[in-house]
Amino acid sequence: MSTVTVVDHPLVQHKLTLMRRAETSTADFRRLLREISLLLAYEVTRNLPTKLVDIETPIAPMRAPALAGKKLCFVSVLRAGNGILEGMLDLVPSARVGHIGLYRDPRTLEAIEYYFKVPDDVPERDVIVVDPMLATANSAIAAVRRLKTRGARSIKYVCLVAAPEGVAAFQAANADVPIFTAAIDLKLNEHGYIVPGLGDAGDRLFGTK
Ligand code: PRP
Ligand code: URA
Repeated sequence: MSTVTVVDHPLVQHKLTLMRRAETSTADFRRLLREISLLLAYEVTRNLPTKLVDIETPIAPMRAPALAGKKLCFVSVLRAGNGILEGMLDLVPSARVGHIGLYRDPRTLEAIEYYFKVPDDVPERDVIVVDPMLATANSAIAAVRRLKTRGARSIKYVCLVAAPEGVAAFQAANADVPIFTAAIDLKLNEHGYIVPGLGDAGDRLFGTK
């Protein structure tokens, strides 16, 4: 069974509450998602290996920790994943980026793929998949399946709000992929939306409704 980390940092929780409010504007929603993503990136990269390097401060030489050159690849599930991607890249600007275009069929809730582009060397990278909403998990499962087909071996999944049903389905499909989320909500409604959730993340991020 894969692990689920709920990032309960007060700043994350406060910003998520602002994002959930129906009256929050598109501009504020976008800014808050970018800010929270920075904090989620901090958590998901917590165990990156470091090595000691020789440097000189203005006062003395020292051996100081630096990232051990482990290569990262963020994969954004379009569209809404791009809202998290921005914040992650603020923290790790040198990371490579992949995109997977998926939308949910509103009737069956199945994930339909319309775009796929990831770096060729994805099997050698630590992959962090980002998408704000884990509802039925159909999209997340399809994204991870596709990445594994391309040889990805080390994968983590980051979202903002998850449904218990989605967490269970994702864990059943991917025992080797840890989940990081800011919240696990109550349930899914009959349309596959997370309750209480925050609505349609893509629409709120891009102002399409
Ligand atoms: C949303 C969200 C996830 C998906 C989650 O995308 O960004 O990708 O739904 O739902 P699931 O867990 O039931 O698959 P949507 O399909 O609305 O596409 P969009 O980002 O293009 O709006
Ligand atoms: N996709 C969203 O954007 N929101 C939900 O609540 C479920 C799926």
